[in-house]
Amino acid sequence: MSSITDIRQTQKTGEKRPEDSLLDRALRPENWDEYVGQKHIKDNVKILLSAAVERGHIPEHILFYGPPGLGKTTLAHLIAHETGRQMKITSGPAIEKVGDLASILTNLAPGDILFIDEIHRLNKMVEEVLYPAMESGVIDIIIGKGPSARTIQLDLPPFTLIAATTRAALVSSPLRSRFSGGVFRMEFYSNEEIAEIVKRSSKILRAKLEQEALREIAKRSRFTPRTANYLLKRCRDYAQVHKKPLNKETVKKALEMLSIDELGLNASDKKFLNTLINKFGGGPVGLKTMAAAMSEEEATVEEVIEPYLLQLGLIERTARGRRATKKAYEHLGQKMSEEKQEKFL
Ligand SMILES: Nc1ncnc2c1ncn2[C@@H]1O[C@H](COP(=O)(O)OP(=O)(O)OP(=O)(O)O)[C@@H](O)[C@H]1O
Ligand SMILES: [Mg+2]
Repeated sequence: MSSITDIRQTQKTGEKRPEDSLLDRALRPENWDEYVGQKHIKDNVKILLSAAVERGHIPEHILFYGPPGLGKTTLAHLIAHETGRQMKITSGPAIEKVGDLASILTNLAPGDILFIDEIHRLNKMVEEVLYPAMESGVIDIIIGKGPSARTIQLDLPPFTLIAATTRAALVSSPLRSRFSGGVFRMEFYSNEEIAEIVKRSSKILRAKLEQEALREIAKRSRFTPRTANYLLKRCRDYAQVHKKPLNKETVKKALEMLSIDELGLNASDKKFLNTLINKFGGGPVGLKTMAAAMSEEEATVEEVIEPYLLQLGLIERTARGRRATKKAYEHLGQKMSEEKQEKFL
């Protein structure tokens, strides 16, 4: 829908498409060298691909999981690009019926990659059709209804399934075990890796970014490439409008306007910490209670907010729920009681 609106606007005003979508495409790494970090995954996937090529087979199925914006979709594109294969893209919620999946699979060309994003949202019936497709390259289709119904088996063109999810725990174990090429967990990036990504992006955007400004953006990027690119673009906007150089001071002002603090925490992260500490005495609190108290979706709390706070050591997950650490109290300028500190140890 939005693309239709965009075209209309373009025709009326002579303006260009929203810049962000074009920039996002330009910033996406297209080869292994441009894809920073995730060394463990890169090493393993490269071997998998080379071995398959040497034996004249197509690569086996791969699953990537981890928090949003760490580069799962980018990796899938990269694999398609590096192996010169065509990639068809779909997602768990888009495949509503068994027939939808059958039509996608039977329309693949031999050697194609099928990318299924949000694979944890496949429904059970569709998932069960996917098992034999992944394992033996066939699907069973029921033709007709009632007593005259019969099952026919269709051979599929050989294909590689690459799937991605932010919620590995929701991928059933039968499905998980069919990713014979590997199940890979995406890691948060180091500050150095994020700095490298920001540097590359600033070159593509032709933004003159001072070294200290680069470090400041990297530090506040939640160890996440998507956030790093987003912050860079917003800082560039701020510098342009205020006619300032892209230095540390400009970056600080721009990020302050976006309510992003020195640790990269945004308004939702701070709300989480405030709720945990001031409403629940620092915890432990269960996920459901936290999400309800914040009026947030559980999934957002679990997938987006918590992983970063855990990574920073501001919260801990215990069997009884989430707990704020001493560092979290300090970050909010509050003191953790002696009694709490002792309990914590
Ligand atoms: N390793 C990397 N090196 C350089 N840039 C990267 C890297 N990984 C991701 N990016 C950049 O970050 C952006 C977000 O990555 P991507 O869309 O692949 O994340 P994702 O894991 O698929 O997120 P989601 O779970 O939300 O779908 C990409 O457009 C790309 O520009
Ligand atoms: Mg993605």
